[in-house]
Amino acid sequence: MSTVNSIEVENLRRVFTRRAPRKLPWRRNGGGKGNGPGTTGSNNGGNNRPKTTVAVDGISFGIQSGEIFGLLGPNGAGKTTTIKILCTLVNPTSGTARVAGYDIVREPAKVRGSMGTVFSGERSLYWKLTGRENLEYFAALYNVEPSKTASRIDSLLCKMDLEAKANELVERYSTGMRQRLAIARALLANPPVVLLDEPTAGLDPQSARNLRDTVRSLRDEGHTILLTTHYMAEADELCDRIAIIDHGRIIALDTPATLKAGLQEMHSLEVEVDRAPDGVLDELRSLPLVRGVESYASDNGLETWTIRVLTEDSRQTLDALLDLLRASGDRVLNMKANEPTLEDVFIALTGKSLRD
Ligand SMILES: Nc1ncnc2c1ncn2[C@@H]1O[C@H](COP(=O)(O)OP(=O)(O)OP(=O)(O)O)[C@@H](O)[C@H]1O
Ligand SMILES: [Mg+2]
Repeated sequence: MSTVNSIEVENLRRVFTRRAPRKLPWRRNGGGKGNGPGTTGSNNGGNNRPKTTVAVDGISFGIQSGEIFGLLGPNGAGKTTTIKILCTLVNPTSGTARVAGYDIVREPAKVRGSMGTVFSGERSLYWKLTGRENLEYFAALYNVEPSKTASRIDSLLCKMDLEAKANELVERYSTGMRQRLAIARALLANPPVVLLDEPTAGLDPQSARNLRDTVRSLRDEGHTILLTTHYMAEADELCDRIAIIDHGRIIALDTPATLKAGLQEMHSLEVEVDRAPDGVLDELRSLPLVRGVESYASDNGLETWTIRVLTEDSRQTLDALLDLLRASGDRVLNMKANEPTLEDVFIALTGKSLRD
């Protein structure tokens, strides 16, 4: 890995102003939902003022050439907006960024020529064309030299394991195949930088694993990769470095190992109970050695709930937690202690879970 930064982001900020909700006959009170996080203006109470959202709130980072860098954060954190700014689809409100040395505002064409971008739920493929026809069309669009187009397409179809399906219509492709074709499209002009927005969203576990292998092989061939994800395990496994982003701000940035090492004194407790444990959570949070608490419906198909506690003293906290649950009449079905994960890093930093 060289030390040259392929992407440099400095104090980037983007504020969206949404127009006032339309007056539709079935909206008696002007419409619009409550304010989300980062929302400043308001449209509640029937007034029709536009509202503003700070999607990206002054972020800075550098991505070294040949690195897989992950933006990890919950829904609405500002991940896609950051990618859209870097690929020149959205202008920043303030701040600067350079991709492969080119300024995203002053040299957008050169920036676009240095990168390939894939958004999740890819809609930029033509479903009525075959995989190969799609790549031929985009190769012409991206000015790939005609004499090299055929061999480039063959090698990309091979690399993305799509040779057998090259002559099938994209509408017959699986989600994973479409995602691989979209990556092949992004690589046509062999750009040094590749941006991937939620590359494994919607894929089954096996396809997601294959896609992560593909991303690693792109890095090994020398591409610099910026990807977004809200899967902690994926960021942990795949990324050389991670920026954890929440409400448009970077709250931690380091290698996965260093982020987790920061929690070495911490223990993570998981207790499964028979109903939503709302009554005990606030009391649990106020215990002196507890650094974070979250609860969520267990993903075991049963109607049970999991309480997850990050604590500096698992024994003392477990005693207190069991007392609290007993007093409130919640039944404990299962419990275990875990090594801290990236999810715990997020809980320690924000006091809440990535699932919220
Ligand atoms: N074009 C837009 N107009 C108004 N608000 C927007 C626009 N695009 C994004 N936002 C808002 O900016 C915030 C950040 O959105 P963004 O799509 O960047 O989040 P994200 O981290 O990619 O989330 P997700 O994990 O759901 O994809 C959200 O509150 C979103 O509603
Ligand atoms: Mg997104």
